[in-house]
Amino acid sequence: MNLPAPPNFGVQAEPRALAPGRRKRQHRSRPLIRSAGVRFALAYAVVFGVSAFALAFSIWYSTLDLLQRQVEVDIRNDALVLDEHYQLGGLPSLIAAIHDRLTDVTQSDGIYLLEDALGNRLIGNLDTWPNGLNQVNTWYELPVTRDHQSSVALLRAYSLPGGGELLVGRDVTARDKLRNVLRDGLLWALGLMFALGILGAFLVRSLFRRMMRDISTTTRAIARGDLARRIPLTGDGDEFDELATIINDMLDRISRLMDGVRQVSNAIAHDLRTPITRARTRLEDASLHAHSAEDLQSAIERATLDLDGIVGVFEALLRIAEIEAGSRRAAFAPIDLAPMLHDMDELYRAVAEERGLTLETRIEPRLPLLGDRDLVQQAVANLLDNALKFTEPGTVIGFTARLEEAVIEIAITDRGPGIAEPDRARATERFFRAESARSTAGSGLGLALVAAVAQLHNGTLLLADNDPGLRAVITLPARSS
Ligand SMILES: Nc1ncnc2c1ncn2[C@@H]1O[C@H](COP(=O)(O)OP(=O)(O)O)[C@@H](O)[C@H]1O
Ligand SMILES: [Mg+2]
Repeated sequence: MNLPAPPNFGVQAEPRALAPGRRKRQHRSRPLIRSAGVRFALAYAVVFGVSAFALAFSIWYSTLDLLQRQVEVDIRNDALVLDEHYQLGGLPSLIAAIHDRLTDVTQSDGIYLLEDALGNRLIGNLDTWPNGLNQVNTWYELPVTRDHQSSVALLRAYSLPGGGELLVGRDVTARDKLRNVLRDGLLWALGLMFALGILGAFLVRSLFRRMMRDISTTTRAIARGDLARRIPLTGDGDEFDELATIINDMLDRISRLMDGVRQVSNAIAHDLRTPITRARTRLEDASLHAHSAEDLQSAIERATLDLDGIVGVFEALLRIAEIEAGSRRAAFAPIDLAPMLHDMDELYRAVAEERGLTLETRIEPRLPLLGDRDLVQQAVANLLDNALKFTEPGTVIGFTARLEEAVIEIAITDRGPGIAEPDRARATERFFRAESARSTAGSGLGLALVAAVAQLHNGTLLLADNDPGLRAVITLPARSS
């Protein structure tokens, strides 16, 4: 098509006018906490730090708890055995047993002290009764002096049935040392984890920024009017790739729509300029050169016809737009297409015969649909019009309508030139007319309306090769009853 310069409708001009202000806003540095990347990184660091701390604390606590319990069990069992000795052999047997323990080098952490009812020391390795230990059957952790060396011990005192008191305990200095080693180790680990958390947060932040940068540079460029830009994919198939793919698909669709708008506006300008200019020339010509009232009259009549054609094109455009908007769905009613199609068959049979064409019709008796009768009729009429318009006399036009598996299929076939494969996808675009159709009358809006009507009914329009000729099929979901 040889088109005039594309009219611009302000589609491209608008973002350009806005761009400087927007750029300014985007480049103003924002407070650190307002940055999503920083917030994300902080959240990561906090979660990481809290979980690391919880882990370290639980290891520390359960280890110490276990050690404490072990010592307690050890002391209890020791006391039980000593009690048996006491039961069996009285005080002398108990003293002998304690003596055994004190001389056993493998049990160097054992602490014992046996006193009689008067508080006299009978045997043991503590010089004096520990300060502060004044209740029996209670756990104490106290500093003690053993062999002139001070240490810490876990202790429990028992009273003997015959008077006197027995103190059994364990030196826990070693355990305390272990506790400190464990605490230091865990603190170091915690510090390391904290550092790692901060490092991880920075990594997360820079990753976040890198991903965002690709998307924001591209979208910013698009906002400035470079619609061909697309977000580069990393190829990892990750969430950002997924997002980028979605955005790219959206951009493809937008640019297709904009192409469509541009094409339609070009086509409107192009298609209507000729008849408008013609009408204008006619009127001007008549006003300058008409010799009689009849000349003037006929010029006006022909100009009116031209203008009617233009009005017709606009009406068709508005009708397609209305159908595409879907508002007519509200007026859908249960109908049977069969009688309406029979009426059309009758009407078109006459026209076809006039043109030396034969109509071969097969319409099933029941074609229930929830839809708009007038629109379906208009769509079928458009297809029949085309079949009549584009075929040579002497050929056959097929017109069939059937119901199969809850789908109504209306097919119109002809033996004309058909639509070349590369044109078929574009044939339903507004104003599309194949090069070969230039000599016939029409504005290229017929198939666009058929496609819109099919879509309104959740159906489709299929254009196929009839070998030779065109096979146009409207499929509509039938009404279940
Ligand atoms: N039955 C057909 N046989 C050959 N070409 C067809 C047929 N129907 C449609 N076409 C092609 O598709 C174009 C668009 O059809 P349509 O939208 O009905 O516009 P119009 O009939 O006004 O030309 C036609 O210009 C023509 O090139
Ligand atoms: Mg047509």
